Amino acid sequence: MTNTRVLVLVGSLRADSLNRRIAEKLAELAPAGVEVEIAENLHELPFYNEDLDGENVPSAAAALRDQVTLADRVLAVTPEYNGTMPAVLNNAIDWLSRPYGVGALRGKPFGVIGATPTPYGGKWAHQDTARSAGIAGAVVVEDVTVSQSALEVDVLTDPAVLERLAGAIRTLAEYDADAAAA
Ligand SMILES: Cc1cc2nc3c(=O)[nH]c(=O)nc-3n(C[C@H](O)[C@H](O)[C@H](O)COP(=O)(O)O)c2cc1C
Repeated sequence: MTNTRVLVLVGSLRADSLNRRIAEKLAELAPAGVEVEIAENLHELPFYNEDLDGENVPSAAAALRDQVTLADRVLAVTPEYNGTMPAVLNNAIDWLSRPYGVGALRGKPFGVIGATPTPYGGKWAHQDTARSAGIAGAVVVEDVTVSQSALEVDVLTDPAVLERLAGAIRTLAEYDADAAAA
């Protein structure tokens, strides 16, 4: 049986990002047969501009579109900036939403998780990411969502949090579009 490939879009670019570490942790937590790959080039994407899109699409955007096309699932792992998703993630979704109607996200099962050092764990960012990805054509798997507060727990070692993260990646990997539609 072929592996299920999950491509992860990390919403933070900083070297010591907690969300990046969560994304890396998911590779360990994923069930057998599930490959987790982080998209490493989001910082190379120019701001989305319809003038740049077309025959000579920027190479970073073309590479990201190819990665998403080859993936079976897409997972955003993101903090919240000013009550919504960070611009780097929003920009990636914009590139993946075009060409209109046939963007790389179209029909792709999509989940969102993340952590912030607030009581709410970034839930506004996660809601906005899910809505935006859905408008871009992704199939949002709402049960995946984890908005984890990092205020009182070490999210990388706490057993209950790790169980929640493992559940998220398992739910996304096992999502069955046919069963959901039935
Ligand atoms: C520009 C900016 C805006 C932020 N706004 C929010 C916010 O609205 N809600 C929130 O929970 N945290 C907010 N934070 C705090 C981030 O959640 C926190 O820095 C988090 O650790 C960033 O994730 P990272 O560790 O993956 O980089 C903000 C941080 C920055 C830099």
